[in-house]
Parts: sequence; C-alpha cells; structure tokens
Amino acid sequence: MIPHPSVAQETTIPILTENNALVLRAGKNGDLGVIFLGRKLSNAAEYDEVPGMFRQGDDYTNSLNAAYTPSGARNLLEPAITVTHSDGNNSLDLRYVSHRFTKVDENVSLLSVELKDPVYHFDVTLFYKSYYREDVIEQWSEIRHREKGNVLLQKYASANLYLKGDRYWLKQYHGDWAREMQPEESQLTHGIKTIDSKLGTRANLFQSSSFMISLGTPATEDEGAVFYGSLEYSGNFRVDLELDYLNNLRIIAGINNYASAYTLKPGESFVTPVFLYTFSDKGKGVASRQLQRWARTYKLVDGNGDRQVLLNNWEATYFDFNETRLAELIKDSKKLGADLFLLDDGWFGNKYPRNDDRAGLGDWQENKIKLPNGISSLVREAQNTGVKFGIWIEPEMVNPKSEFYEKHPGWVVKQPARAEHYFRNQLVLDLSNPEVQDFVFGVVDHLFTENPTLAYIKWDCNAVIYNAYSTHLRNQSHFYIEYVRGLYRVLERIRLKYPKVPMMLCSGGGGRVDYAALKYFTEFWPSDNTDPAERIFIQWEYSYFYPAVSSSNHVTDWGKQPVKFRTDVAMMGKLGFDIVVSKLSENDLRFCQEAISNYKSLKDIIWHGDQYRLVSPWESEFASLMYINPERTRGVIFNYLVSSRYGSGSKLPVKLKGLDPARKYRIREINLYPGISSLIEGEKSYSGDFLMKVGFNPQVNSGRTSVVLQFEEVL
Ligand code: DGJ
Repeated sequence: MIPHPSVAQETTIPILTENNALVLRAGKNGDLGVIFLGRKLSNAAEYDEVPGMFRQGDDYTNSLNAAYTPSGARNLLEPAITVTHSDGNNSLDLRYVSHRFTKVDENVSLLSVELKDPVYHFDVTLFYKSYYREDVIEQWSEIRHREKGNVLLQKYASANLYLKGDRYWLKQYHGDWAREMQPEESQLTHGIKTIDSKLGTRANLFQSSSFMISLGTPATEDEGAVFYGSLEYSGNFRVDLELDYLNNLRIIAGINNYASAYTLKPGESFVTPVFLYTFSDKGKGVASRQLQRWARTYKLVDGNGDRQVLLNNWEATYFDFNETRLAELIKDSKKLGADLFLLDDGWFGNKYPRNDDRAGLGDWQENKIKLPNGISSLVREAQNTGVKFGIWIEPEMVNPKSEFYEKHPGWVVKQPARAEHYFRNQLVLDLSNPEVQDFVFGVVDHLFTENPTLAYIKWDCNAVIYNAYSTHLRNQSHFYIEYVRGLYRVLERIRLKYPKVPMMLCSGGGGRVDYAALKYFTEFWPSDNTDPAERIFIQWEYSYFYPAVSSSNHVTDWGKQPVKFRTDVAMMGKLGFDIVVSKLSENDLRFCQEAISNYKSLKDIIWHGDQYRLVSPWESEFASLMYINPERTRGVIFNYLVSSRYGSGSKLPVKLKGLDPARKYRIREINLYPGISSLIEGEKSYSGDFLMKVGFNPQVNSGRTSVVLQFEEVL
C-alpha cells in the first residue's frame, strides 16, 4: 500500500486570464474538483469562499465535479479515465499531490497538477496552459505508471470540466461532403450527450469536435454566458456532456476510446491531445474574437503574416489538361491579378494515369503525356509570367490501381481477410508504419528539392478509414492513435525543413479542420461547396472557431449568383479563384481585377482585424459581417441578400460594432460592378456612436444582392 497522498488542508488553485477564472480545489481527502469556471472575481482572495465539492452518493466522499474523474472506485458517473491495472483490477482513484505554476512568457502560464492513486503506482498530471490576453485555456493530461506489468487504458480523456449554469444549450455541428458545419442548437437534458467520430481520417466530416454551450439561456452574438470547446486532434474524438442531478454540466473530452484500448508499459507516458476552450459572458461574438486572436498568434503557421491570392485549375479543367492549357492558365493568373497558380489533381501517374479519380493516386511522378517537361517547366513558366506556383497532393492515400499499390500492398490500411472497401476509389496508407511516414515525407520533400521555388501546397485527404488494420502494428487497438501520431510526425518533419511554405489543409472540404492540424497549415478549405449562397452560412459558422485568414474561399462557377456576389463572399477570408478567366466577359474580368486590388488594400484588416457578425443569415433576409483594424480607424462591411422572396432586403439600418464612438467615419461602397453606380452617398461622415446606435443601411435588395462597404476615419 502506497502512503495516502491526503492534503492537510484544502488548496484552492485559480487559473486566471484577463476576464475569466477556472478554479480548482483539492479537498482535505485529496479529491481535486473544478469549483468555478466563469467571469473572474475582482478580489482573487474570495475564490477560497467558492462552495467546494459537489458530492455523489450518500457517503459524500466523492465529487461530481472531479477535475479528472477516475472509475471503478468511488465514482459512479461518466469517467475521464478508466484503466485495467497490471493485476487485472479495474479500479482507479486519483488524489491531489501537488501543483506548480510556470510562467511561459508574459502572456502564457502553465499549471501542472500531480494526481496519484493511493493504492497503485499510477499517476496523472493535468496541464492547463492559459493565454491571459486571449482568455483561452488549453488542457491536456499525461498518464504514467510504475506497475509490475502493462496497464490497459480503456478511456483517457484530455479534459474534464464542470459548468454551473442550471440550463445549458449545446450548439453542435454535423455535416457531410459539401454540407460542412451545419449547426444545431438544443437544450441539454439529464444524462449524457456524446459527440464523436470514428472515421479515423476526415474525423470532423460528420460531426465537429468544436462546439459551444450557453449557460442559463442561449447566448446571442453580444449577450449571454457561453463556453466554446474544441479538441485539437485529427483522429477519432469523443466529447461527453453529462447533465448531473444537481443540474451541473460535466464535460469530458478527448480521443475516442472506440476500438482503442491503449497498452501502457511501466515507465512510459501517454500524453493526450489538447482540449481548447474559452468563455465569454458577453455572448458568442467576444468568444469567437478571443479564439480567432489566439489562433493567429499561437496556432496557425504565420497567422499574423501575409497570404497569396491564387488561381486554382480544379474546376477549370478537372483532370483534363496539358502543358499548353496550363501555360494559358498561368498567364490568366497574371491577367487576373493573382499571385500564384495552383495546379490541382491529375498531374501524375504513368502506368495508371490519373485521368479520373479511379487510378494513379500514389504514383507521384509527372504524367509524361500531360506534362512531358515535368513540373519544373511549369514552375519556370510561372516564374517567367510573374506568378508563383503551387501544387496539389494527397500523399496519405492511394488508388488500388496504382504502381505504388502493386509494389507495397502491405502499406495500406485494410483487413487481411476481408474484401477491400473504398471511399472515393481509394485506400488510406498505413501511417503508423515509419517506412510509410518516410514515403509521405518524401513526396513533399522531393517536390521541393526538385522545385525549390515551389510556393504552395494543397494537402488533400479524401477517404475515411474502413477496415482499420495495420500489418506493421502488433497491437491493433493502437491503430487509430498511431495513425494520427504518424501523420503529425510527417507534418513535423515537413515544417522543420520548410517552416513557412503556405499549405492548405483540405479534406475534400472541411472534414479535417482542427487546431492540431492547423499547427502545420496556413489555411484550410472549408467546403467543396463554393456556391456563395451556401458559403455565407458555412463560412459564418466556421468563423466562430477559426479566423478569416485561415479560411480559403474560392470564386468558382458553383451557384447562380453573378461574379460580383461570388467574389464578395470569397473576399471574407483568404481569397482565391477557380474559374476560367478566358471565359469571363470583359466586365466580369474588370470587376475581378478591381476586386483583387480592393482586396489587397483591405486584406490586412480582413485577415488580422476583429470580425463582427452583424446580421445573421439564419435569422434575416440578408447577412452582414464587418471587419475592423485594431486601431478602429478602418474597416469593411460585407452584406448579402440571402432570401429570394419578393421584397427581401435590408429594410432597417444595420448597427455597426467595435467602432470608436468618438471618431467620425466615412462609408463608401466598393466592389461596384462596372457601369453600376452606388446608392450610398459616400461623402457624408457619421460618428462611431451614431453608426453603432442608429446604424447604416447598406441598401441590400433584389437589385443589389451584394454590397461591400469600406469605412474610414475622417480626421
Ligand atoms: C477534393 C478537393 O476538395 C477539391 O478541391 C479538389 O482538390 C479535388 N479533391 C481533387 O481531387
């Protein structure tokens, strides 16, 4: 028996950010609980007065609000951790031992809390990394033991939190290809609500690991208490939301333990992915701006840096192109005013040419018929034309009809005795295997070694994992976890060697976006659905969690809207084009060229400023979003008609947000289609106070379906 790690007195541990507090308490018996999560107190000494543990059972010995709920001992609710010890015993108890705050820098602190089982040599460290100015906390745990044999981790969450709000509204997201980020908001009832994924790759495709919970009443943009959570993990995830009998909400988030019991050897440690959260008592808008700021500063590659406007050839050509056609498109990029030409799928494969999505994936050699002079000649062509060159890859996947598969049938994920099962005619490579990791790294490395001026990578991932099995792994229960570890190892190597190259995280859409992946990428592809009427909604929902600079929005031929509408919508993030420039009418081309030039003068505000959602497309006949620079002197407002009903439009002025009430602003319309004059009188100026209280009518209607307004301080 190990000495009982009881603490002589209660210890209260507040984690403070600029506006919020997360407070832990270790009780006298060593139970560690979450006693508060919300707006911080003015006097930190008063956290000692916050009521402590919320007991379960009639012996009052264990808490509902455990900071990391173990199972098999005194706990009867959903656990954060479940283990089978080396002696076959299933019980775990975790008691507080000590804690330590480390200052990472002037804005970031790290709290670590040591927990120990009183009976077994089994320890857990809980980590809470807090970002003061952004009000964001990242939480994860590290699990270790020194038992005589292996321990089986049956469940191993990243975080376990406790909210007190009496009533809770969960806003969650579901989706599918071309329908990503479909929101649903509903009141949580007693019991457990689970959001999870078992897809292996593209883990966020059907359900997103990002969610929000309003406390008391559903939060609006500017009012109400709201918690945002998101798991930084690109594999199977699981979030359990348990409303307990005291009407408090237990949140347990981490890797999905589905088919993934993990064998932990003595002395080894298991580090969980990070669960990220923020809280606002001033509505969803504040919370999203906190998260966006945090992401730009701490997560995204070059989040505060520059991006390039690109022309992609996917929808212009699909798989059907050759050097001459591409040379034309490269020239079109220049004509349009784009900075980069991005060559998409279809450039590789010889024995099995990649002429459609049924063959060639995995054979990363240029197709000799389409590109007899190779990629390098295209890179040169781009250079001579004055644009950069980028390329599409999908290096984690193969078509069974490929030379790769003929050579390495053991490198794909499939069940040895079962029929292969495909998603988009392809199989997933076994990234748990270091040789496969080398291969995937090699695909990227080779492209850069051959073409040192290559300026952009679009990394796609179109299949989920069926028939999960690795010939490399001895323990198949580790497969899903080792796949993700393998993926991160590859991305880590790429970033070590090519730290700044822009890379787009694409998954046949947004099925893979999360903040662990975005650590390696500059941007993501929200959806293959580029119909602007749909994109307004999809981008609106992503914007709660991801900054505009990370959202690749391309103008395509999807939808029925005119090119102005499509471009205006794409301008709300990282603008790109995927159209046949040579088919544009003279006016359409002129419009696009002028829009790109407007965009370049505003991009810094769109990418790095504050974003305010003014009028929701879900609740109105039109949508309105604004972006403002940190100095509050310049900004842009995008307005779109979303209803096709007769007489729809912006009948009332839209109240702006985030302005300085004392400053005067002039508003003028930009992105006007050639020959169309504005209804907005651009010479008048208004105080910020006026614009925020009375507002300004963008005059959106069926004749003006998309209106972009730029505002500027008048001195
Ligand atoms: C799916 C992506 O989302 C598209 O943009 C395109 O790159 C295709 N894959 C290519 O196969």
